[in-house]
Amino acid sequence: MSPKIEITNLAKNFGEKQVLSQVNLSVNKGESLVILGGSGTGKSVLIKIISSLLAPTSGSVKIDGQEIIGLTGEALDKMMEKIGFLFQGGALFDSLPIWENVAFRLINNKKMTKKDAKKLAIEKLKSVGLNEKVADLFPSELSGGMQKRASLARAIAANPEIIFFDEPTTGLDPIMADVINELIIKVSKELGATTVTITHDMNSARKIADKVAMLFEGKIIWFGDVKDMDNSNNPYLDQFINGRSEGPIKFLA
Ligand SMILES: Nc1ncnc2c1ncn2[C@@H]1O[C@H](COP(=O)(O)OP(=O)(O)OP(=O)(O)O)[C@@H](O)[C@H]1O
Ligand SMILES: [Mg+2]
Repeated sequence: MSPKIEITNLAKNFGEKQVLSQVNLSVNKGESLVILGGSGTGKSVLIKIISSLLAPTSGSVKIDGQEIIGLTGEALDKMMEKIGFLFQGGALFDSLPIWENVAFRLINNKKMTKKDAKKLAIEKLKSVGLNEKVADLFPSELSGGMQKRASLARAIAANPEIIFFDEPTTGLDPIMADVINELIIKVSKELGATTVTITHDMNSARKIADKVAMLFEGKIIWFGDVKDMDNSNNPYLDQFINGRSEGPIKFLA
């Protein structure tokens, strides 16, 4: 069986700037992959390319064995149906109440009635710890953490086969962060979704990951089982997971 996601020799430049070079990565069905890496290393760019939101400069991305780079029209729509996405900034539609944000694809793509879609949206909101009353509010009326959770409810609402979570626990209190960790585990372990999560939250990474990939200077410099992360003998990974300012990864002040 082909991997759920298979990335080969992926590169991305923005003008002169090379963000990704030679990225190779494969994720099996039902697996939870966590991507680690410093700010600006191309983590968000990588998952946007995998989900067809951004075109690579070169390389291949296959989902269920099918090349997705260059897909257009109906074939692209069909592929996108498999995918759910939590954007780093939330990216809710300001003009729609929360429930319509969550139910957006159910109404527009799956042609669910508004009544059924609202019911389902409320269920999904509850699963991220948001009260029914939140359904009729607008994004601007929610706190940052609540917006994040509403975005998460939207990402999982249509039961996608693959879900990308870009920093799902950033800005949440520790208890709510754990509710979200449990939810990610649930969608992957119980519902069989394949998940790719970007996080700086090492508690969360340890809890939700089956596999871990670390990006540095445009390449995957470590990939392995989460249980091997502490004994990797990789100075980059060690520095990152232990949050040390001293090490091979330099920062510019
Ligand atoms: N649309 C774009 N146009 C030009 N440059 C871009 C674009 N999107 C991203 N970049 C650049 O690509 C690099 C990687 O960005 P990316 O958002 O993937 O970082 P990241 O690893 O997700 O960082 P963070 O942890 O801060 O979210 C950055 O230098 C960014 O400025
Ligand atoms: Mg990012």
